[in-house]
Amino acid sequence: MRCSGIMLDISMHGIECDDLRKAYRNVQALDGVSLVADAGKVLALLGSNGSGKTTTVRILTTQVKQDSGTARVCGNDVLREAAAVRKVIGLTAQETHIDKYITGAEYMNLVARLRHIPRKSRKQEITVLLEEFELADKAHIPAGNYSGGMRRRLDIAASLLGSPAILFLDEPSNGLDPHSRKRLWGVIRQRAHEGATILITTQYMEEADALADSIVVLAYGRVIARGTPGELKDQIRGRAVELALSGPEEIAKATAILTALEIQAGPGEDPDALQFVMPLSGITLVELLRHLDAQGVAINDVIARRPTLDEAFLHLTSEVERSVEQALLGAA
Ligand SMILES: Nc1ncnc2c1ncn2[C@@H]1O[C@H](COP(=O)(O)OP(=O)(O)OP(=O)(O)O)[C@@H](O)[C@H]1O
Ligand SMILES: [Mg+2]
Repeated sequence: MRCSGIMLDISMHGIECDDLRKAYRNVQALDGVSLVADAGKVLALLGSNGSGKTTTVRILTTQVKQDSGTARVCGNDVLREAAAVRKVIGLTAQETHIDKYITGAEYMNLVARLRHIPRKSRKQEITVLLEEFELADKAHIPAGNYSGGMRRRLDIAASLLGSPAILFLDEPSNGLDPHSRKRLWGVIRQRAHEGATILITTQYMEEADALADSIVVLAYGRVIARGTPGELKDQIRGRAVELALSGPEEIAKATAILTALEIQAGPGEDPDALQFVMPLSGITLVELLRHLDAQGVAINDVIARRPTLDEAFLHLTSEVERSVEQALLGAA
């Protein structure tokens, strides 16, 4: 594996953390997070707002210290060898903080100098990155005059300066238009292909599906699922169901019955269809169809299909949220 130009033990992980815990006053932001990411791979960290993604990134990038647990980046401990960690990482933080008076080119130059990129290659690298992120024609305009998406692109471009061995991208595609997002995916794939270890957080399941070799899902500071995108979908394989019904009345009746069974249904592809994900335990699909029939719901057709990553994610997080709510109710 390449870390700062030095070849290290190939068995070493680019990023690894074990049982990370972090509390902010009375909020347990991380409650035992363990994960591993390898060179040449993209790890996507998913989770609802407040689930602990940014806290994990901040610990791994040495901005915040964990209360307990260990984390190593390129083999360096984030607490004891923080300076060595900083040398091998590139970070696009969730929030962009670029001075409004500085131009794109000046900002890139500043970051390149902080990264000790040799003067000889600096100019060339900046030119290539500004072009890659379609900012070349805006290079000499102050960042304050950029649109939000342009500032975001500049921020990402800067984090790639010096081809860091380990890349942390915290919701990088936030605010990017679909074209820019697709271009960013191309850049991320290319960097992984060149051997970088990439940890990305995102709210876009489509993005995780397209990019990630592996996914870790967080909820309440804990890992609630991990695997490849395919493995996560398989966890609820065949359980995404679409029912074709015969009009709004039938839809309302079926929705009420499903809600009573704690199954959340939404509109399907057709106007007269209803779709939902079957619970992992409890009633089976056959039992459910019989139940609906017995209640007088006329079902025209049933399609059971592999869920999308969106459905898998919503399903996993809502199951956890429900069990936490029940635990809280039990404790009250
Ligand atoms: N500096 C801080 N001070 C106090 N609480 C914090 C701080 N940073 C994070 N938290 C809390 O820690 C928890 C995890 O926050 P974190 O920012 O890691 O979530 P996230 O998964 O990145 O969410 P989002 O999707 O909204 O970015 C939240 O409950 C949050 O309110
Ligand atoms: Mg965050």
